[in-house]
Amino acid sequence: MEYLAGIDVGTTGVKILIIDEKGDVKGSITVEYPLFTPKPGWAEQNPSDWWEATVKGIKGLLEKTGIKGTEIKGIGLTGQMHGSVFLNNRGDVIHPAILWCDQRTAKECEEITEKVRKERVFEITCNPVLTGFQAPKIIWLKKNHPEVYKKISKVLLPKDYIRFCLTGTFATDVADASGTSLFDVKNRRWSEEILDALDIPSSFLPECFESPEVTGYITEEVSALTGLAKGTPVVAGAGDQAAGGVGSGIVEEGLVSVSIGTSGVVFAHLEDVFVDPEGRLHTFCHAVPGKWHIMGVMLSAGGSFRWLRDIFFGRDESYKVMTDMAETIPAGSEGLLFLPYLTGERCPYPDPDARGVFFGISLKHRKEHLVRAVMEGVSFGLKDSIKIMKEIGVPGCVKFRLTGGGAKSDLWCGMMADIFNGSTVRLKVEEGPSFGAAILAGVGAGIYSNVKDACKKLVKEEENVFKPDKENTEIYEKFYILYGDLYKNLAVLFDNLAKIS
Ligand code: XUL
Repeated sequence: MEYLAGIDVGTTGVKILIIDEKGDVKGSITVEYPLFTPKPGWAEQNPSDWWEATVKGIKGLLEKTGIKGTEIKGIGLTGQMHGSVFLNNRGDVIHPAILWCDQRTAKECEEITEKVRKERVFEITCNPVLTGFQAPKIIWLKKNHPEVYKKISKVLLPKDYIRFCLTGTFATDVADASGTSLFDVKNRRWSEEILDALDIPSSFLPECFESPEVTGYITEEVSALTGLAKGTPVVAGAGDQAAGGVGSGIVEEGLVSVSIGTSGVVFAHLEDVFVDPEGRLHTFCHAVPGKWHIMGVMLSAGGSFRWLRDIFFGRDESYKVMTDMAETIPAGSEGLLFLPYLTGERCPYPDPDARGVFFGISLKHRKEHLVRAVMEGVSFGLKDSIKIMKEIGVPGCVKFRLTGGGAKSDLWCGMMADIFNGSTVRLKVEEGPSFGAAILAGVGAGIYSNVKDACKKLVKEEENVFKPDKENTEIYEKFYILYGDLYKNLAVLFDNLAKIS
């Protein structure tokens, strides 16, 4: 039998998935690791934790499934995007990895934008420079830890550090590279112009590949550690959003997905480069060779829901208890609104200082209302990106494939249909980015002819479609207007809050 593996180096843990060539899931395992917040707004992890978890996960999954390393024909990598792993010339990590949700680089973003010029940054990278992206992190390290900066030999994205551990090669893919602010997104290559302007040596960066291309092979040492076979090919893979797009079959125009994980993402395929002229959404290379995608990313979607669970319900309480509670409350949460900007926001407001808000609390509001208001607030945040996509003419946006933890709740699926005023549907196999990474591995290993064909065969929607309820849609329209007004009115107050806290 021939199997494929996907490895997703996520924010809360690494997930390893094995599928057979028909796309049937043979098993998966998640091994968690900690995230450190040494200062408010900072987010770091130890790459050695990712690697230990990956080894443990691969070993554990091979044991659990009884699948032999020699039966795995290809491995695809995916993971949290934008983070920076700094290595010296011996390949040692010389600073904790700074993650996608870290907000320390507001000043560096301004500096880069000034040096390269705003219009040029946008022309080359198709996006503004944002705090989570990689380039401002490199500049931050240069300014704040010049002694560490001097030792840098390579700067890698998170999943590419795991590739280095698995294969000994330095490589990345065009989709993940798109989120660095150093990449020429139209031409699918590193931008010499930006690297020169920022005085970043191009030798810091790994070679860049299209997602299904083979970038290296499992080494003998890793084979002994994990049970994988020496020589198993590892494909470039993709950042978690593009790999998730493949796993959800968003590989042709007209298809749009919405995922609620820690972050919340609206994702659409593009046949050609197409940008939001105001830079509110990201245009990146897709994991489909020669294609692009556009997406809106909220920083705290499922993250807001998890925060509410942790503080009010305790970590062991299930999300099901919470969504059952929310079901008892009418649409609009009886006048309670939530702004989900717990870690600042990215799309449509690139504002590291924005914060979460409950608005309209009264004596009648109970825990149940808070839960529902959080679910509604996150859905309004996702609608912001959908609204922009419709405005600028992204095809589709009438039916949405739902993925991520949020899609497990029928209530949330129905609520999103009402709020987006479009149908929503789940997928038969919902394994997120690791499924997409395994599909990419299958293309690289020659099991599938190309990404689009593979998705046609392997990705199927559920029969049950959630249709918008007219009455709820009308209620939500009114609350959505207020939701938008709230941010606009509070933006300056968020700045003031940041100055005194
Ligand atoms: C995408 C983004 C997040 C991270 C973490 O731009 O920032 O989705 O990749 O999952």
